[in-house]
Amino acid sequence: MTIETTKDAELRARATKVVPGGMYGHMNGANLPPAYPQYFARGEGPRVWDVDGNEYIDLMCSYGPIVLGHRHASVEAAVAAQRAEGDCFTGPSARLVELAELLVDVLPAADWAMFCKNGTDATTLCLTIARAATGRRTVLAATGSYHGAAPWCTPNPAGTTPEDRANLRYFEYNDLASAEQAAREAGDDLAAIIVTPFRHDAGHDQELVDPAFALGLRDICDRTAAALVLDDVRCGFRLDIGGSWEPIGVRPDLAAWSKAIANGYALAAVTGTDALREAATHIFTTGSFWFSSVSMAAAIATVTRLREIDGPAVMERAGRRLRHGLATQAASHGLRVNQTGPVQLPFLSFGDDPEREKANTWTTECVRGGVILHPWHNWFLSTAHTDDDIDAALAVTDAAFGVVRARFGAA
Ligand SMILES: Cc1ncc(COP(=O)(O)O)c(C=O)c1O
Repeated sequence: MTIETTKDAELRARATKVVPGGMYGHMNGANLPPAYPQYFARGEGPRVWDVDGNEYIDLMCSYGPIVLGHRHASVEAAVAAQRAEGDCFTGPSARLVELAELLVDVLPAADWAMFCKNGTDATTLCLTIARAATGRRTVLAATGSYHGAAPWCTPNPAGTTPEDRANLRYFEYNDLASAEQAAREAGDDLAAIIVTPFRHDAGHDQELVDPAFALGLRDICDRTAAALVLDDVRCGFRLDIGGSWEPIGVRPDLAAWSKAIANGYALAAVTGTDALREAATHIFTTGSFWFSSVSMAAAIATVTRLREIDGPAVMERAGRRLRHGLATQAASHGLRVNQTGPVQLPFLSFGDDPEREKANTWTTECVRGGVILHPWHNWFLSTAHTDDDIDAALAVTDAAFGVVRARFGAA
């Protein structure tokens, strides 16, 4: 199937003149199959439309922020009400206190909350608070884990200095011995361990956390009086409304949130325990737009709704249907696929596909058929994905598997 791409192509051409490289960061369409739209025009529920008017079932959810579906009524109503009052003042509005109260109520590990704009702000702020609390420098992180685009954590070190990472040491995700070793090397300078709820490194199959590994990190932090920082930016509010490690009973000292927290409005948060409150009080951190009320109103509506409907369970149901359907289809075409990670954040890769030719072909066919997903980054579900939406997506993925089978053969 061919789709209209004229306006998208025009915008890409114009952008090459006025935007470095035409686009940057994770939105850079140059790293995706050519059929993938770069520019979008609108979204509604589980669907999006690109600038050429092509309609898609959205299995990327804007790389995570859209958790209730695009333009969810309760969020848009809260946004409209707040917008009518104003957004950005000489001080915060009451929304800031209301949202902090809500998070402290919803998240068992949180005694307080602070707000910023992006996930990178939140992870960086967690490290600042941990260092202020301990008076130490060293932070342990998993090799290859994404914690944002600041100099200390960007996956592309161009423009950064070795000094930016001088106080980081690395361990392997789910390998407790390597974390113990890194902690020993840090000695009495260990300020924090930062870790994601499961291994979701781009370009790799996902890996669920081994509860013994999570408990082991908790134990290292308890023994050394370092802070355990859970980077819940990507998974937060999709796996468990109380925090992604609640089901395994491991509570962080600090947690970073963003993406799903406000259903697409710009907000991030850091939450922490009473033990870190003093340090959080005494650092200096701020931003011109960190106190804007509209996104806080959106977050209150989003988290409230997710709690009311048990959002993670709704997404889990849709995710199970999708995973089962994809597995059945791939088998029927004689194709070996790996589906990894929690079903709310699906990901599929092909066996024997070192150059991702099968993944790119399959993604291209899915996009042409009207389904947005991704060849090397995990996807995201929302509570707006109904059984009918999943089934409509599956009709497209089945045809796409057929093309992969015809082009590359079985296996
Ligand atoms: C686990 C994790 N941490 C931090 C970030 C950085 O968030 P942001 O892009 O909002 O700065 C991301 C973004 O994808 C993420 O997935």
